[in-house]
Amino acid sequence: MTRRACVLAGIGAWLPPGVVTNADIEARLATSDEWIRRRTGIRQRHAVQDGMAASDLAVEACARALKSAELSQVDAVVLTTSTPDRPLPATAPAVAARLGLGPVPAFDVSAVCSGFLYGLAVASGLVAAGTADRVLLVGSEVYSSIVDPLDRSTAVLFGDGAAAAVLRAGSADEPGALGPVVLGSDGDFGDLIRIPAGGSRQRAPAAPGDDYFQMAGSEVFRHAVNRMSEASRQAVAAAGWRLADVDRLAAHQANARILGALGAELGLPPCRVLSNIDAVGNTGSASVPLLLAQAAADGGVAPGHRVLLTAFGGGLAWGATTLTWPALLPC
Ligand code: UT7
Repeated sequence: MTRRACVLAGIGAWLPPGVVTNADIEARLATSDEWIRRRTGIRQRHAVQDGMAASDLAVEACARALKSAELSQVDAVVLTTSTPDRPLPATAPAVAARLGLGPVPAFDVSAVCSGFLYGLAVASGLVAAGTADRVLLVGSEVYSSIVDPLDRSTAVLFGDGAAAAVLRAGSADEPGALGPVVLGSDGDFGDLIRIPAGGSRQRAPAAPGDDYFQMAGSEVFRHAVNRMSEASRQAVAAAGWRLADVDRLAAHQANARILGALGAELGLPPCRVLSNIDAVGNTGSASVPLLLAQAAADGGVAPGHRVLLTAFGGGLAWGATTLTWPALLPC
């Protein structure tokens, strides 16, 4: 008997219409379009207007994913974010309510840029346990609310956006079935990506910038390549694949140079490495589903492609999994 698996049934994304180009940032910070493109591959990113929060973006992305899955109801909502509407309560219940989903379980997962991979593991667990037959998983980020507009080392990197996936119970041998999800963390390096203030350790800023996102970029870069390649190899092996079987790599979009190094490390030619970082920047936990939604729409990923998903970020935390791309309705 084939095991009860978690199967991708729909995908959708939403970007706020506001666009911040490198020229916009160049006009207010000591940076240049040339530096940003050369060191990150980013050309522009999207940003919300004042007053728009993670739940607003999530509702838009979820509506599109539900349409793609031809569903109006799910059994659980899992939301991943580093920028919740408020510290408490979780943002997912508000999203479920606004989508008219009734009293379904709804909760947030906090794993910074690896949130979507952690969310896939949670969705798989809910399905395997029989708690839910249909899970709506959404990554939604408003990084413009936590990035210091005066910090050139982070202000050029991040963008706002949301993307959602509908996952349903199915069998392991059908297209869209998730392979084993590999996850990991290393809290010894927790300070490499952090917001020092605002938690129970330090409620108020003690120094300027303490309430903003901070990152030791070049050190994070090294960990990112190592951890994503290691997790990718483990996920591919756990799925019974070889690296040569991978048709598309859908990796967290943090830096075009990381994508290049990761592809080279895994022996994947550039044409198999999906990328949209030039147009959206780093959208945190929305990054992988946003990439997949856009690739599905423009033919970058097609039914039958064997896709390797991986992400890395603050925690440190990372993850990887596999699936064969299913035939989905366009979102
Ligand atoms: O999403 C979670 C995971 N995140 C990541 O994986 C991000 C990983 N890290 C990176 O993508 C890169 O480290 C960055 C893009 C953040 C930085 O690139 P880098 O090549 O590692 O630069 P760096 O931090 O080593 O800095 C090199 C120089 C420094 O100047 P000095 O000290 O050599 O004079 C920085 O001050 O580049 C300077 N710099 C900039 N210059 C112009 C840093 N940011 C900028 C900037 N414009 N925006």
